[in-house]
Amino acid sequence: MSRCWAWPVRARHSRQTELKAGSKIEKPEKTPIGVIGVGWVGLVTAACFAELGHPVFARDVVEEKVASLSRGELTIYEPGLAEMIERNAERLEFTTDIELVLGRAQLLFVCVDTPPTYSGDADLSRVRSVVADLPADSDHVLVMKSTVPAGTGETIRRDLPDMAYVSCPEFLKEGTAIEDFLNPDRVVVGATAEDADAAEAVAELYRPLGGEIVMTDTSSAEMIKLASNAYLATRISFINEIANVCDEVGADVGEVARGMGLDERIGPHFLRPGIGFGGSCFPKDVNALKLLAGNSGYHFQLLNSVIEVNELQKRRVVSKLSRHLGSLVGKRVALLGLAFKPETDDMREASSLVLSARLRGEGADVVAFDPVAMEKARTLLPGVEMKDTALKALENSDAAVLVTEWPEFREIDWAGAAATMRRPLVIDGRNYLDADQMRGAGLTYEGIGRPGVGTETE
Ligand code: UDX
Repeated sequence: MSRCWAWPVRARHSRQTELKAGSKIEKPEKTPIGVIGVGWVGLVTAACFAELGHPVFARDVVEEKVASLSRGELTIYEPGLAEMIERNAERLEFTTDIELVLGRAQLLFVCVDTPPTYSGDADLSRVRSVVADLPADSDHVLVMKSTVPAGTGETIRRDLPDMAYVSCPEFLKEGTAIEDFLNPDRVVVGATAEDADAAEAVAELYRPLGGEIVMTDTSSAEMIKLASNAYLATRISFINEIANVCDEVGADVGEVARGMGLDERIGPHFLRPGIGFGGSCFPKDVNALKLLAGNSGYHFQLLNSVIEVNELQKRRVVSKLSRHLGSLVGKRVALLGLAFKPETDDMREASSLVLSARLRGEGADVVAFDPVAMEKARTLLPGVEMKDTALKALENSDAAVLVTEWPEFREIDWAGAAATMRRPLVIDGRNYLDADQMRGAGLTYEGIGRPGVGTETE
């Protein structure tokens, strides 16, 4: 096995002292990076490290994916990613060959999926198969990007005693992943004391990016990831419940969130109400943390409510529609946006899935438009008619529901659209459209938790 460069991670105890005293290790300018698992996280990680000048060797078991990536064709949509990969093609090698990666790089960033099992626990089978692929005496550094339950690192570490293990959870958001990678709020690096030099090697990679580096132990690093996502999800469910109360008492949740957010202890972020959170992380991680707690003997009461509120929130739009339209049988409802959020084609746990099923269950005909997610949505939403444009979806509809806040929905000629609708009713599931403009364009407009804003009786 030939190596371009090997980071001296094994001389653990002596190295630790050296590092504290100001290490004299001679590091090459650019560290070769191995990426294992080239899904969305792996691809963003690979592209960004290449952008920073590192040679990157990215391995996936799916041959077709590797072949298309090698041709420069992406299987996912993330703004700026295709261009970044093209720009750095000479530093990026995609392969199915694990030996090639092991031979070229010592730092291996594990970016495989940990989807929920039927019970809701994280499915670690892909992580296990990565570990099984490594030679027992490997002295590589396994850098865990995948979200795993607290304690996983310690178990892997026991199984691979010659290897170093560093937990480095990802906090990338879909749609802004590249910006998030290159401008992190913080980078969490967790390792045992004996892997301190490996942790330092990982930290070194991120230092040029400027975010605070949180050096900690492995289990705490794993918990930081789960706790951060669960907390953000909790804020969303909280503001959604506040919005529901605002609907009842005539307050405007936008004003409430603004007023709350100015308190430094609260801050303004993640207080946007809507029709529930979705995506590949929040629903999964909230559940995973709840189960992790439960399996450890602690009943995490609050997270049950976070999940329940989120499920109910997706259905509230249906009752809003019924209040305006009466029975939904035979009513044509246009969904604007299907992806779980804008700037992505990701349909995982998207609110549109539950909403369209519920509407169809009530007897409504559902038509839909999304600028990028329709291809993926088609198979997931059988019975939903996809239209080429937002205007075509709105034509002859009894109501429209804005599900995903794509900027182009603000540019719609709403007065023109209203004229083609059977009934000019818009339920804005993201409070994204300008209520006064909508009313001015002749529409009945209703948002979430802003009853006094732009509503008018028909
Ligand atoms: C999230 C985390 O933000 C990220 O740190 C982690 O690495 C992965 O999970 P992501 O799923 O890409 O990222 O999307 P995010 O922008 O956080 O939104 C998640 C969901 O919450 C979306 O459905 C969004 O519409 C919803 N949301 C977000 C709200 O309903 N209100 C808000 O205020 C914020």
